[in-house]
Amino acid sequence: MIKAVTGTKDILPADIPYWRHLENIVTATMTRFNYKEIRTPVFEDTSLFARGIGESTDIVSKEMYTFIDRGGASLTLKPEMTAGVVRAFVEHSLDKKQSLNKLFYISPMFRQERPQAGRFRQFHQFGAEALGSNDPLLDAEMIIIAYDIFVQLGLKNLSVKINSLGVPESREKYKKILREFLLPHFEQLTNESKKRFDTNILRIFDSKEGQDQKILVNAPLLIEHLDNESLEHFEKVKSALLSSNIPFEIDPKLVRGLDYYTHTTFEVVSGSVGSQSALCGGGRYNLLVKELGGPDIPGVGFASGIERVLLACENEKSLQTSADQIDIYLVTIEKNLSSFAYKTAVELRRKGSLVEMDYLSRSVKAQMREANKFNAKYVLMIGGDEFAKGVLLLKNMSSGEQMEIMKEDFDKILSTVKGK
Ligand code: HAM
Repeated sequence: MIKAVTGTKDILPADIPYWRHLENIVTATMTRFNYKEIRTPVFEDTSLFARGIGESTDIVSKEMYTFIDRGGASLTLKPEMTAGVVRAFVEHSLDKKQSLNKLFYISPMFRQERPQAGRFRQFHQFGAEALGSNDPLLDAEMIIIAYDIFVQLGLKNLSVKINSLGVPESREKYKKILREFLLPHFEQLTNESKKRFDTNILRIFDSKEGQDQKILVNAPLLIEHLDNESLEHFEKVKSALLSSNIPFEIDPKLVRGLDYYTHTTFEVVSGSVGSQSALCGGGRYNLLVKELGGPDIPGVGFASGIERVLLACENEKSLQTSADQIDIYLVTIEKNLSSFAYKTAVELRRKGSLVEMDYLSRSVKAQMREANKFNAKYVLMIGGDEFAKGVLLLKNMSSGEQMEIMKEDFDKILSTVKGK
């Protein structure tokens, strides 16, 4: 038997109500904050991600699904949305139509990571990007949107972590200081951190290894070496969060795995999902648009992993979906009436009712069982003495009440079922 590829998963009909519920909350919340939906292709030119996310990041150096197509082009399944959104923004000169573009998305992403609970190779993100303003209020807005969505999903065990990576000049100065601090400890670092020492020294803070953590305890922190402009920006983000009642903590070691950040970075972490605890991550990226060939336009955004969020909801039992119900189940008593039943079902569906009928030539008893299984509000009996009289019997399944309705009086059936 052929099975789903490792790290991918089917979203079965029983899961769909939870996905729909989340997607509805995301769309409604984004709309209230005046974000407009954008959809970009599933694959892009490989160079977009290499340039946008950074060659030395884990995503680009070891996780991308890259392939050569039949025309010889190197393409990559999108591992994240920001690079694609910025590419579309530049390509269509969206800044000419609107000085601030507030965009949101819900889309599958692809990363060849080691699968575990809450980590997949095809996963889904919802997220937002605001392009065109350096206002710290927008940094805070991203955090507020994400947090509000999680709260609407009933999640409680949340913490918001924020940090500032400043601007490249102060960051470069700080990297030198960090290098000087780590150099005497170099031999004690894990192999991964030794590699990062040269390629991306800040990412050593991401290490979960005790060996590295021991050394990092006394490390100088970027936040202590920020320039005034960055500190001011960060202060404004903090006060906007305070005034919006978002609880947060400052995590000076939050560096994030993508290279494009400047100023604010943040994550919302759940205590309910095990080691893959980041429900979302994001931050400001004031240099990315230019880096990808566009004008000098600042941006800020976030993305959240839907599978992980739904796992948190499941573990916190925060969501209840109502049991499925159909409006009418048509019970065909005599087999020769099945084409009449079919016509009736189609007509009632076209008029807006959720209708099911028998397609397996089942006995009346088996059809009644099926009606119960579908949790039918009404059963419409087609056949018997009533049919000979020109009427159908409509039975209310909760009260047991029955009424006769003229055979083709669809409007009467509908008004009864809808309770009008
Ligand atoms: P990221 O931190 O790489 O950021 O991913 C954002 C979120 O996607 C994570 O916090 C996690 O919830 C989810 N996620 C990532 N990888 C996986 C995986 N393999 N399986 C399941 N869920 C996963 C970004 O993608 C940036 N584009 C965020 C951003 C937008 N920054 C600015 N704008």
